[in-house]
Amino acid sequence: MTTDSLSEMALDTNWKRTFRRRLLAWYAKHQRNLPWRKSSDPYRVWVSEVMLQQTQVETVKAYFKRFMKAFPTVKKLAAADEQEVLRLWEGLGYYRRARQLHAAAQQIVEIHSGRFPRDVPALQTLPGIGRYTAGAIASIAFDSRVPILEANTIRLFSRLVAYREDPTKSVGQKLLWQTAEEVLPRKDISQFNQALMELGSLVCKPNDPNCEECPAATVCLAKEAGLQDSIPFASRKMKLIDVVEAAVVVRKRGQVLLRQCAEGERWAGLWDFPRFELQGEGPLFVRDELIEKVHQQTGVEIEPAALLTTIKHGVTKYRITLDCYDARWASGRVKSTKAKPVRWCATNALVDVPLSTTGRKIARLVP
Ligand code: ADE
Repeated sequence: MTTDSLSEMALDTNWKRTFRRRLLAWYAKHQRNLPWRKSSDPYRVWVSEVMLQQTQVETVKAYFKRFMKAFPTVKKLAAADEQEVLRLWEGLGYYRRARQLHAAAQQIVEIHSGRFPRDVPALQTLPGIGRYTAGAIASIAFDSRVPILEANTIRLFSRLVAYREDPTKSVGQKLLWQTAEEVLPRKDISQFNQALMELGSLVCKPNDPNCEECPAATVCLAKEAGLQDSIPFASRKMKLIDVVEAAVVVRKRGQVLLRQCAEGERWAGLWDFPRFELQGEGPLFVRDELIEKVHQQTGVEIEPAALLTTIKHGVTKYRITLDCYDARWASGRVKSTKAKPVRWCATNALVDVPLSTTGRKIARLVP
């Protein structure tokens, strides 16, 4: 097998046999005891995989346990209020995942009588379930002989076959899915696919892969060529754009003003303080801008007060400086529509409202 003819490559039978045997032996010894590995219930597999898509295992553990306690079955999730689902997702980010999870649970109950479809094409018809998640559910829960490819296995396979191009491009994806399919053993796919991800997660890490501990080191083409640190190919970093935004805590007799983020906006479905980009510079301009933009967003007139705090955070390509201001309600009623709900919320009820991550940070500063 050469690294130049990868697209026509078929993995050698001996290579596959050695790799599978070593991987499974390693997994039997080193697998972590993770809460979603206690059973092969497709519902648990699904929720854990969706949570793990953009979030570290250590962070997911506590969220997963809490979610399962609140919604132990797909029927319970389907019957839940979306706001409750978002509240339990708060802090995990990528909130569309939570909304799609909820919508898919409703479809499973309504269209599939509460039972998970077992095959990949049927699973892929559900909201938020792409080829990876469908493959994970079908293989981990039902032991179907189907491949998976996600962040850990993209890195692992890229190194194993020494793929030097961008693995996120369609040529790379095609090759890596093909690799994922070819390495599959005849049976015990559930264990095998989990073992692949575990090896990627614990040993074949993004930086400084631990080849000394790797059961596949002697069959790894990147290791053989000394390329393990430069594969996978890293696409050039996104250019970041600096923006300054303001969030305003408008108070009125033990209440604060909240707006729900609209469809198509960041954090759709979650609540936040009135928030917008600041155009002007200097404190005098900011005061007028706060008054005008809070009025635009909520219908309410305010009297701005002190700067409470400044939060720096990033969302996709934006590097945001968020200035958080305190303010008093001066006059006017809230202007709330179905598309853009606005409401007063008692400060002691903020704990039950799903808030954006920065919204929650600000809420903690509000006595
Ligand atoms: N990352 C995504 N899914 C995973 C899993 N099932 N085990 C370990 N890491 C993962």
